[in-house]
Amino acid sequence: DADVQPTGHGAMRRVPTGEFLTPSRKTNGKGVQVEDTRICVVMVGLPARGKSLIAQKVVRYLGWLSIGAKSFNVGQYRRTDTPTPTANFFDTSNAEGERLRRAAAEAAVADMCKWFREGKGSIAILDATNSTKDRRRWIQDRVTSEGIETIFVESKCDDEELIMSNILEVKTTSPDYVGQDPEEAAMDFRNRIRNYEKVYQTIDEDESDITYVKLINVGSQVIINRIQDYLQSRVVYYLMNLHIKPRSIWISRHGESQYNIEGKIGGDADLSPRGQMYAHQLPDIVKQSVGDGRKLTVWTSTLKRTIQTARYLTFEKLEWKALDELDSGVCDGLTYGEIEERYPDDFKARDEDKYNYRYLGGESYRDVVIRLEPIIMELERSENILIVTHQAILRCIYAYFMDVPQERSPWMEVPLHTLIKLTPRAYNTQEERFKADIPAVSTFRAKGTSAKHQDADSSDLPEASMASPLDSPPGPRGADKEPDALDLGPQK
Ligand code: ATP
Ligand code: F6P
Repeated sequence: DADVQPTGHGAMRRVPTGEFLTPSRKTNGKGVQVEDTRICVVMVGLPARGKSLIAQKVVRYLGWLSIGAKSFNVGQYRRTDTPTPTANFFDTSNAEGERLRRAAAEAAVADMCKWFREGKGSIAILDATNSTKDRRRWIQDRVTSEGIETIFVESKCDDEELIMSNILEVKTTSPDYVGQDPEEAAMDFRNRIRNYEKVYQTIDEDESDITYVKLINVGSQVIINRIQDYLQSRVVYYLMNLHIKPRSIWISRHGESQYNIEGKIGGDADLSPRGQMYAHQLPDIVKQSVGDGRKLTVWTSTLKRTIQTARYLTFEKLEWKALDELDSGVCDGLTYGEIEERYPDDFKARDEDKYNYRYLGGESYRDVVIRLEPIIMELERSENILIVTHQAILRCIYAYFMDVPQERSPWMEVPLHTLIKLTPRAYNTQEERFKADIPAVSTFRAKGTSAKHQDADSSDLPEASMASPLDSPPGPRGADKEPDALDLGPQK
């Protein structure tokens, strides 16, 4: 599982997937290569406790970090035979229900073990209630016999109001209740929970030999037991930072800079006159999108163009070095045309694998993701944040929230003078865009070209070259709100 990473001047070196986060090579005492860590995260908890949401977020986070991860949802396996069960199906005195549920769990675990054996990734999530000690012991034994570590993640929640709102938010629209009246579906789901409650056993001292995390009332209390290695502790740390309070994240590139006009990359240029106009207009656009009286914190990079762009915003501001633009090393201050002329092999190598290409003396997109990881963690902990940053950085942050694959993210078109609002929802992130009525050059460079940045005004932006929410053609002029963009992300 290695990627080829060009290192400047077209030279290649092999780096492991998830560089920095997993060992490059693991040997036993005799120097013989042994298998990398493989972890099965076993979700535990009553229905409507956010297990699937947590599972999907962990998979997205790990995928963004190039750690192969997949969620195995037992509900989906169960639906093969029982697509629309009533609460009675989950009553443990229902022998046929018990048999089918056990078969679904076994099928999911078997597929998961196969997935590991085929070397498809290092972290699998077994997304089911796994609500009895017997069931957990069986999973522990089965998975350990395959040489896979386990970490049990229990979500406990006794906030009735929250559970009811979870049911209304996601359960009445679940495929289990397709075509049914939402009120009846909600009632049936509550009965389903009652059936589970009859047999549910929380993780306790009897299970002190297993590795587990208990998240109580959405992380207001977290209990951890026997965390064994770095990868496990990373997962735990991520889980500890999650919250479900309603909030949004706004991201914008800086206003057009002098370098943007000249077609130069990198540097620490001032804003152009049009960039300054965007800075002046930004507070109004933000007001239109955020509304009055909502508390917001503004994050910028340490480079002049983002600080100048945020200048007229009256919120608390933080500058982060981690938000500085991708370091283009020896190419800093050059135009793409000059790079192609001076470093033709590099120019080609970057086009062939833009995500992994590392500028000589600089960074790759992969490097940027690693340095952005603390930013993502802080974003998960925070509420409303507005980030003013740079093209490559914005692509990486956007890719995390919208689950954009690595081969596409470096090629996404992110126009200047546009505020993007991301709102995390149960299983996906919603996007809206607000475009300023201030023309700017387009700094987008399509694969295989080295043309100087095109000049484009807000009514004449170039057509998208890749299909993605960010690439869709811009909306109407004048800080107009575009209709809600696609809801991406997996549906349960
Ligand atoms: P089921 O067992 O039916 O599959 P589940 O536990 O997987 O249920 P989800 O489908 O993930 O539950 O429920 C999502 C809802 O749970 C969302 O509305 C989300 O806001 C909420 N939620 C997320 N995390 C938690 C948590 N730690 N505790 C309680 N609710 C949560
Ligand atoms: O051109 C603006 C800019 O922010 C440069 O400073 C940076 O090198 C570049 O965009 C990143 O975009 P790409 O990865 O497409 O070259």
